[in-house]
Amino acid sequence: MARIAVVGAGHVGLVTAACFAHLGHSVTCLDVDHDRIALLQQGVSPIHEPGLDDLLRQGVERGLIAFRADYPQALDVEFAFVAVGTPPSAGGSADLRAVREAVASLLRCLPPRAVIVNKATVPIGTADLVEQLAARMNATSIAVVSNPEFLQEGTAIDNFLRPDRVILGSRDEDAVERTARLFESLGAPIMRVDTRSAEMVKYAANAFLATKISFMNEIATICEQMGADAQLVAKGIGADDRIGPRFLGAGLGWGGSCLPKDTQSLAHLAAAHGAHPQLLRAVMQVNQDQRRLVVSKVRSALGDLERRRVLVLGAAFKPGTDDTRFSPAIELAQLLQSEGAEVLVFDPVVTADRIQALAPGVRAVASVEEGAQGAEAIILATEWPEFRELPFAALAAGMRRALLVDGRNYLDPARLAEAGFEYRCVGRPSQEVFASFDFEPSVVAGSIG
Ligand code: UDX
Repeated sequence: MARIAVVGAGHVGLVTAACFAHLGHSVTCLDVDHDRIALLQQGVSPIHEPGLDDLLRQGVERGLIAFRADYPQALDVEFAFVAVGTPPSAGGSADLRAVREAVASLLRCLPPRAVIVNKATVPIGTADLVEQLAARMNATSIAVVSNPEFLQEGTAIDNFLRPDRVILGSRDEDAVERTARLFESLGAPIMRVDTRSAEMVKYAANAFLATKISFMNEIATICEQMGADAQLVAKGIGADDRIGPRFLGAGLGWGGSCLPKDTQSLAHLAAAHGAHPQLLRAVMQVNQDQRRLVVSKVRSALGDLERRRVLVLGAAFKPGTDDTRFSPAIELAQLLQSEGAEVLVFDPVVTADRIQALAPGVRAVASVEEGAQGAEAIILATEWPEFRELPFAALAAGMRRALLVDGRNYLDPARLAEAGFEYRCVGRPSQEVFASFDFEPSVVAGSIG
């Protein structure tokens, strides 16, 4: 059993703390946000993550997790995981103030030979910076290890406990071996690299995922023009195990707390160091275009959006979370508003107050039925499973115009048509495209697998 501190009670920090306690380690979770710590001390998790509440409760019951809002004089731990936020600053680089503050506070209270493990996504070179800070504060026995996290919101506990790989970057071999022992029981390959490569793996992984989605979105746009079906194409290419089937879902594009921030931050880092990150820039551009593409589908059906009532289904950046950071759904609502539409938003988890704070002027509604009444279009922006089971015929009957634009290719077109909806989605040809070719759609619209 190791003694571990986790600094930062956000998504990554809490999942890390809960999982280490689950593995039997003794964990102190520290955050300077007093309200957040007070909630945790009362047994309430400030974030929505399946399975996290149970693990935190079990950890507390077993006496393996404690929460605190201040740094003690002496913090008797062997490892201190830094999982504080690194939000984008105005220029696009990552804001490292929280990391610097956390590290400086840790250096004042950690015992000799403790290991600072960086889990926050930090620019390449940050581990070196931490080492310099340690040297400046005469804490040279403190080792620094970079251990990027690859947690996905909604499946973070599983991602932590069953990782594809664990990356450990350090100059200090002994610190790497000690840190590796924390992860050995997970049975995943442990890759030991230098710190800069470890830091880069995180950025490159997220940038690659963003690229994969933007690539598929670009292919989807071409599919629409050419009379091909992007979903069948994704299946077809995804069956090649050099490509793989995941992250090929076309639609509104990517959002969330990591992909946008990290892709932008990597492009910024690259440009600042004289590289020309043209692919990364195109990947971001395609992503912005996806929001506009979905708006244009509504506009082309309705003529214009001025004073048209449009219901947006979803506010979270993806299902299974209440996180709205860089949410495509919110950006979509804002774009609709900028064209004069009356925008209503429904999300099963994100609160009305939050929605209205993020997009002032939109109306957060309490149910899909309430929002659909009298609307001229519904746009599905976040693929919450409950949206598959809506009473579509009743919704269509209450709308001024029963148009549904599926921004996630999530719903069953045949079911929607049967319910009386005019259905549009992303990357599948419209009937007009088929009409311009010299063959019957049914001849070509087969299915793969
Ligand atoms: C991501 C990375 O997956 C994870 O490894 C990293 O640690 C943090 O960032 P997360 O932000 O939880 O995780 O979201 P993810 O599930 O990757 O989805 C990101 C965005 O891409 C979402 O907006 C999602 O809707 C979108 N997406 C995903 C698509 O548009 N199409 C797809 O096929 C998959």
